[in-house]
Amino acid sequence: MWIALTRELSPRLADCELSFVDREPIDLDLARLQHRAYQTKLSELGCEVRELPATPELPDSVFVEDTAVVLDEIALITRPGADSRRAEIETMADVLAEYRPIRRIVEPGTLDGGDVLRIGKRLFVGLSARSNSAAIEQMQTALAPFGYRVEGVPMRDCLHLKSAVTAVSDEAVLINPDWVDSDAFADFQQLRVDPAEPHAANVVRLEHGLIMPAGFPHTRDQLRNAGLVVHEVALSELQKAEGAVTCCSVLLRNI
Ligand code: GLY
Repeated sequence: MWIALTRELSPRLADCELSFVDREPIDLDLARLQHRAYQTKLSELGCEVRELPATPELPDSVFVEDTAVVLDEIALITRPGADSRRAEIETMADVLAEYRPIRRIVEPGTLDGGDVLRIGKRLFVGLSARSNSAAIEQMQTALAPFGYRVEGVPMRDCLHLKSAVTAVSDEAVLINPDWVDSDAFADFQQLRVDPAEPHAANVVRLEHGLIMPAGFPHTRDQLRNAGLVVHEVALSELQKAEGAVTCCSVLLRNI
């Protein structure tokens, strides 16, 4: 059984951090409906959805992925790269302590969970504006005893590594090669997003299929033609806050 940690979105979502998208009005009611539909989809696909305590004063706090990296053996609490997001970690740490031993990324390290892509025993970490090499060194020290290899990956023109690449299986990634060096994923089969759909690379991988945002029909069809099961969710309002499907949950195996 998988647990999906999520958090109700803040009424201050419109004050969120933005790096690579322009600010535009967000329909909060629609955002809440879309977020609920996302939670329902996680539930339908076999996750027990657990909500973290609400933090209405923190605009980006719905994007829980950035606060933790959870493995079967341990949970790393991040030190988010944006000052405005640092206070998001404590409620996550409190809840994760029920499931895993906790370690923390500390100064001068900065790390957003959206920059961490795990495939098997390899963790790829985007060298974005949010995550740095000091955090990668701390991850290597914390995770080497469990057999994980942590690798920094140069990237460009997008917020997080998982804006540019996610895993669709243990052997294959979905990638936008304009935003990340595809050579870093040379050991994997590479499915490329349709050139007209640069934001399509972010998918949640579950045992019973992938969740991807609606609005990327060419990439969706390509995934289906490759034999993958794809479930779409509408996420327009959270995308305006520079969010995507992976950002809105932290998945952990209930062991
Ligand atoms: N609004 C998402 C982020 O910048 O962290």
